[in-house]
Amino acid sequence: NDRKSTSYEHLFKYIMVGDSAVGKSNLLLQFVDKRFAPNSDFTIGVEFGSRSININDKQIKLQIWDTAGQEKFRSITRAYYRGAVCAMIVYDITRRDSFESLNSWLTDCRKFSSCDVTTVLIGNKADLEANRQVSTSEAKEFAEKNGLMFFETSAKTALNVDEAFEKSTEQIL
Ligand code: GTP
Ligand code: MG
Repeated sequence: NDRKSTSYEHLFKYIMVGDSAVGKSNLLLQFVDKRFAPNSDFTIGVEFGSRSININDKQIKLQIWDTAGQEKFRSITRAYYRGAVCAMIVYDITRRDSFESLNSWLTDCRKFSSCDVTTVLIGNKADLEANRQVSTSEAKEFAEKNGLMFFETSAKTALNVDEAFEKSTEQIL
């Protein structure tokens, strides 16, 4: 039934932020297209994707804004928190510096999004276990301290990618 596939009960705006090269665009690509790009370009400004999911027999359309992590785009990124019901803050488990940046992303998130935004911490590149620089327990502790949901994901193997979007949507509903 054509009509059913295009109608939805909720439209949720998501924003993805975090340092450059942590894998935001590939998380979006995996979630929307079930694909992984081994050599993807830096995002310029902001990109956009959408997918509908079904939670408790409700069709929910997720409208996802994938922002650029490079510092020179920070002011553009700040304009996209507005209206978002969920912010995903992504770091790379193999890059300590991307974890150290989380406080700065959280500050922006609290300043520029609405107060009831659901915030999700994503430790991406979980497939690269041998290169891990941030332990799961340390990240979990950081998430708990700051009231964030937490997932370790891989945009490459799709580990926990659907789960992160689905569980956060359930929380918002
Ligand atoms: P900006 O757009 O500059 O903010 O970067 P980004 O966060 O969108 O990173 P992007 O998705 O472009 O990924 C950067 C690089 O990491 C690419 O070469 C990806 O192929 C790779 N990558 C992304 N996610 C994963 C992952 O889960 N596992 C592995 N092994 N590589 C990944
Ligand atoms: Mg990108």
